[in-house]
Amino acid sequence: MNSMVVQKFVSIHEAIENAKKQKKVAVRGWVYRERGSNAMKFIVLRDSSNIIQCVLEKKNFEKQWNEIDKIKIESSVEIFGNIKEDKRAPTGYEISVAKINIIQIAEDFPINKDLNEELLGDRRHLWLRSRKMTAILKIRSTVFSAIHEYYHNLGFYEFQSPVLIPGGAEEGPTLFEVDYFGKKAYLTQTWQLYAEAAMFALEKIYTMAPTFRAEKSKTSRHLAEFWMHEMEVAWINLDELMEYAEGLIKHIFKRVIENNKLELEILGRDIKKLEPTLKKKFPRMTYNEALEILDKKKKIKIKWGKDLRTIEEEKLMEDYDTPIFVTHYPKEIMAFYKPRDPKNPKVAVCFDMLAPEGNHEIIGGSERDTNIGELIKTLKSKGEKIEDYGYYLDTRKYGSIPHAGFGMGTERVIKWICGLDDVKDAIAFPRTMSRLNP
Ligand code: 4AD
Ligand code: MG
Repeated sequence: MNSMVVQKFVSIHEAIENAKKQKKVAVRGWVYRERGSNAMKFIVLRDSSNIIQCVLEKKNFEKQWNEIDKIKIESSVEIFGNIKEDKRAPTGYEISVAKINIIQIAEDFPINKDLNEELLGDRRHLWLRSRKMTAILKIRSTVFSAIHEYYHNLGFYEFQSPVLIPGGAEEGPTLFEVDYFGKKAYLTQTWQLYAEAAMFALEKIYTMAPTFRAEKSKTSRHLAEFWMHEMEVAWINLDELMEYAEGLIKHIFKRVIENNKLELEILGRDIKKLEPTLKKKFPRMTYNEALEILDKKKKIKIKWGKDLRTIEEEKLMEDYDTPIFVTHYPKEIMAFYKPRDPKNPKVAVCFDMLAPEGNHEIIGGSERDTNIGELIKTLKSKGEKIEDYGYYLDTRKYGSIPHAGFGMGTERVIKWICGLDDVKDAIAFPRTMSRLNP
């Protein structure tokens, strides 16, 4: 048998976790930082799991030193050596290197701390390797898996709607048009309308799907392409729908707090700010009550019938450290499928969930109008072509039932959890009015 011992690579995280009992380690990754002198080279190595300081002494690498001296940031290497605790090292451990395999010496890495946002955006494909972006992407992954888990535990089916649609939309002016074999087609703005059809087959359904809106406004909350989580449920009313929404947010928070302590720390996010959402019941108020609070407590008068604007939502949220539900918005400013409240026909049976810390609307949902006459009237009043909605109206002709659903801006939730200034950082390659590259 070959006497050479092949050493198994471990992640930096594993190397640190097991340092007390396994001193000899093999790790591999990229050079996160480096500095050197005539006699020594310090490399902070990173892999997807963590970073660790590695020390190379020239006297052990006489033949290889020329090459080692050329190692720059983001060079890829394999390192073999002994790990030990060292309080001065960035993650409290250090590897004294016995052997190094240089896989590639990187060119000068075009990212440094002086780059402005525009240049960082241009180099996004490389910026993803930063500790900040890596931490965000890991939290994003937890959020996605928590959503799937929540619905699987509740017996939902995952359902997909088409992305290319012939027409019929959430908000007409923000449709992206594409050439579809010489005809006009559009990129979907919501999973909902087709999902309502599928609900008659599956009853409890959800999705995670790319969603497109040609948003012409440059805000810290709008993307042209984002991942909407949507759900639709048969036989439920607004109250039951809000229970699902609150349960979902709490489940996402539970999983992120369990799985991503290190990432939250890297982002400088105080877990205490997240805990109220896990522990407290989310307050509920109607649009009318919100207007009253704004008037009485915040000295802001809003004309009944107007939507809440950024500044008004911000003022309203000043007093809360959890999300709140605002329900029963004026029917006229709502999407066509939100039904009139039989008790007060001026308002719709709907809700928005607003998040604290300046994060605004993260979820919007409603009961669905089952009255064909009303649906047609509203669609017409919004200038929609009824032909585009034929399949949708059909769902109200064959065994129509009460049902409800909501949609959540996944990036907005990630922005809030991570304490980010802009929703663009909640996705790897953001698409906005001013950016389609890389
Ligand atoms: O409120 P919206 O427009 O609702 C719908 O599309 C419904 N069809 C959902 C449903 O009932 N199934 O969008 C839902 C959520 C918003 O609350 C917001 O969080 C997010 O999607 N959102 C955006 N996120 C990022 N960029 C954008 N341009 C967004 N537009 C909406
Ligand atoms: Mg909305």
